[in-house]
Amino acid sequence: MEEKEAKPSRFSRIVITELMIPSYANFGGKIHGGILLSLMDKVAYATASKHSGAYCVTVSVDTVDFLQPVEVGELVSLMGSINYVGNSSMVIGIKVISENVKTGTIKHTNTCYFTMVAKGDDDKPTLVPKLILEDKTDVRRFVEAIYRRQFKREYEENLSKIKEDWDKQEIEILLSNHRCINQSH
Ligand SMILES: CC(C)(COP(=O)(O)OP(=O)(O)OC[C@H]1O[C@@H](n2cnc3c(N)ncnc32)[C@H](O)[C@@H]1OP(=O)(O)O)[C@@H](O)C(=O)NCCC(=O)NCCS
Repeated sequence: MEEKEAKPSRFSRIVITELMIPSYANFGGKIHGGILLSLMDKVAYATASKHSGAYCVTVSVDTVDFLQPVEVGELVSLMGSINYVGNSSMVIGIKVISENVKTGTIKHTNTCYFTMVAKGDDDKPTLVPKLILEDKTDVRRFVEAIYRRQFKREYEENLSKIKEDWDKQEIEILLSNHRCINQSH
């Protein structure tokens, strides 16, 4: 595949700010997690398509932890930045903050990582531009993404091993330490 011109992360950095309106709230009056996920997906798409110059799809979402609730009336800003590129895949780091405009208080609600894949006109994964690492933050984010991918691979391998040896596991002992009642005998 043809190599495209390399780009720095600042080329594709995106911020989306949205007002949290009442229809976004759940029964408890807080903003639905799904609303925030949808906004994160938008930022990830915008960042990935800007870097790659291509149509992109979401492949994987890592570590979405909602650290603090978001209230109706707050201004939520999502900052997307490309952290890592593979051949056709890109990892987009997204930081979400929520601001109470009356008090000026700003909360960091979460940070997460979306893996997006660029597709060509044939709908197949296509090569994305290399990432130019301009400063120490760019290097740290790229290296962290390499390790996160490696840990995920190891986690999946470990889980497969556990499943292979399922019958040999001490299931009863394991379950006895958890809040469940096993009636499957
Ligand atoms: C993701 C997808 C493009 C992979 O296609 P594929 O033909 O299997 O291609 P490959 O195996 O070459 O994978 C392409 C890239 O995706 C990466 N990838 C695939 N699955 C992945 C996963 N679960 N997590 C992270 N990266 C993944 C591969 O590592 C590869 O990266 P690289 O090109 O940088 O080396 C394909 O499965 C797809 O289109 N999925 C649907 C995505 C979608 O519609 N999302 C919207 C959700 S509704």
